[in-house]
Order: sequence, then structure tokens, then C-alpha cells
Amino acid sequence: MNTISIRDKCLDKPIIQGGMGIGVSLGNLAGHVAENGGMGVISAANPGFRQPDFNKNRLEANRRALIEEIRKAKEISKGRGMVGVNVMMALSDGEELAKTAALAGADAVIAGAGLPLSLPALTGGTDTAIAPIVSSAKAASLICRSWKRHYGALPDFLVVEGSLAGGHLGFSLDELMSDTARTLDSIVSEVIEALKPFEAQNGRPIPVFAAGGIYDAGDIRRVRSLGAAGAQIATRFIATEECDAAPEYKQAFLKAGPDDIMIVKSPVGMPGRALRSPLTERLKPGVFTGVKNCVKCLRPCNPAKTPYCITAALTAAVRGDWENGLFFCGSNAYRLDKILTVRRLMKELTDGI
Ligand SMILES: Cc1cc2nc3c(=O)[nH]c(=O)nc-3n(C[C@H](O)[C@H](O)[C@H](O)COP(=O)(O)O)c2cc1C
Repeated sequence: MNTISIRDKCLDKPIIQGGMGIGVSLGNLAGHVAENGGMGVISAANPGFRQPDFNKNRLEANRRALIEEIRKAKEISKGRGMVGVNVMMALSDGEELAKTAALAGADAVIAGAGLPLSLPALTGGTDTAIAPIVSSAKAASLICRSWKRHYGALPDFLVVEGSLAGGHLGFSLDELMSDTARTLDSIVSEVIEALKPFEAQNGRPIPVFAAGGIYDAGDIRRVRSLGAAGAQIATRFIATEECDAAPEYKQAFLKAGPDDIMIVKSPVGMPGRALRSPLTERLKPGVFTGVKNCVKCLRPCNPAKTPYCITAALTAAVRGDWENGLFFCGSNAYRLDKILTVRRLMKELTDGI
């Protein structure tokens, strides 16, 4: 297994633990993944949800919490691996939190849920590596061209997310429902091809990490045989002792079967994949659950029209509230059957690759 160089850092294991909001991947999970040689990623989706002033002063609460989670992850990692932060561009404070992450010493900022065209400006002057999440070669080329033209910069690495991933998906509802979305493997190969001219221009490789439905060492071997440097994996890290969510949250995944996984509409404006739950069953067309204490977290959300408040639903889930929570998951969530330590999972994922 080769180490992967990213800026001045090295990953011993070709694994990025995908950012999971709200509050599912914070400093504890990210720190332990980094300690075990991978890149642990803190979600910057409302990390301040437990702060007492969250409803009144969301940006400050999120900033304070994010800085604290980065500090915690770095302490746990003992200088090993890398500690990254995942930022969703659809969040109204996404740009501010990308800046905060870089200034607080995050090793990488990984940005998705919208084209992160301004990312190089937000982290400029720091050593933080930057990476977009894309679901097509077209988006990869567009971002590279735009960053090169406006900032003379290129991604330090790139995450390619296919349609089997958890959380928000970069595919239309029609593609997902009719199973016509391109496969992860074909998108990975196309992105690797599309990056070649930019790599040649810059004289350095841009490592690609494949995401969405990667479950075991065999899957990682498969995407590496296509030319990917490694994989970004999220769902498997939910079933770890170190995952930052409540024990009841993790148990909900262990109980799920293949028919309990579904596509939901999200106020983010993209479809998402989640466990079938009392909340998803209540959300029939035309049903509005109402928004209390709106914190204006999403640019695309209109609180008067949204069927449900995604911040309320995701924070209920991470606290273990099965009745009211939205439990995002990848397509392989039904395969989770036990809680492992991060050390054990990282070993299992990398044995023989
Ligand atoms: C519970 C959960 C929350 C997620 N939250 C985010 C998020 O806040 N931002 C993001 O870019 N991706 C998010 N994702 C996507 C993951 O980071 C990852 O790329 C994807 O789930 C990989 O597929 P896998 O879960 O099959 O391994 C989330 C996924 C899950 C399962």
C-alpha cells in the first residue's frame, strides 16, 4: 500500500472518512480515523447545534464548535494522518466555516453540495489542502478551469461521489428512481481522464478518492485498479464506537434491512438517501411539518414552503430520536451488523489492498 502525499502531509491508508452532518462526524471520529493513518473529516454542517446560543447566534456557535472539534481531533490523532473539514456550499455559513477551518489548522477542506468555485480564496494563505466533491467529469473540469483562471490553483485531491452514497446526492430524482445514474466506476474513470491535462500543466498528480457504496477492501481494490488513489467511506464509520452520534442512532442502522433504505427530497434542493423512519413515512406529498426556530441555515430553503426543517430532523436523529429524526445513509447501510472500533474497521478495510 503506497502512502498518498497531499500538500506536505501523508496518508498511510488510502481512506477518507466522509463528512457526516449534522454531528455524526465530529472531532472524536475524525481524530481516531486520522490516528489510524487515514483522513478523518469533521462535518461543518451546523457543528454548533449543542451550543446554548445556537438558535440566537448560529454563525458564532458553529465557528466556536468547529474550532473546538478540530482541536479535539488533532489531539486524538497525535499528529498522524490528516484532519479534514467537510463544507456544504448550500449552507449559508459554508464559506465562513471554510475560512474558519483553514485558520484553525484543518489539514484539508473538502467541499460539495454546490460548486465550490470560491474555495481557493477562502483558504488562501494557509497550508490547508482543498478538494471539491464532484459527481461528473464535467464538474471536475469546470472547477479546475475556474480555479486555475481565477486563483492559479488546482485541487490538491478530488472526491468523486456516485449515486450509491449517503446524504445529499448529485443526481436527479429521476436518475435515482429509474436507476439510470452512471456507475461510480465509469464516473471515476472519466474524471481521472479529465484531470490529465491539469495534472500535466501542474506537474503533479491530483489524487482521486471514489465515494458511494464502498464497503470493503475488495471495493477499495476495485476503484484503485481504475486509477483512484483510494476511497471516501462514510456509512461504515457510523457503526463504530468512536462515531459522534448517540448509541440509539447507531442501533437504528444495525436494525435496518434492504427495504428500509429510500430516496428522500431535501430542502437543500438535492435528493438524499435515508433510512425509512417514522418521519419519512409522515412526509407524504403535500404534508408540511412546519419550521420552528428557523436558523436560516440553507441558501435554497424557504421556511414557509419546506415540508420539513432539515436541521431539526438531522439533529433529532443524531440525538437518537427515532420518531422525529432523518437518518441519512448509504445504499449499503443494511449490511452493517455490528459496532467496531475505528482501529479494527481501518484494518479490515485495508487488509490485502
Ligand atoms: C449520515 C450521513 C451524513 C452525511 N453528511 C454529509 C455532509 O454533511 N456533507 C457531505 O458532503 N456529504 C455528506 N454525506 C456523504 C458522505 O460524506 C460520503 O461521501 C458518502 O456517504 C459515501 O458513501 P457511503 O456512505 O456509501 O460510504 C453524508 C453521508 C451520511 C451517511
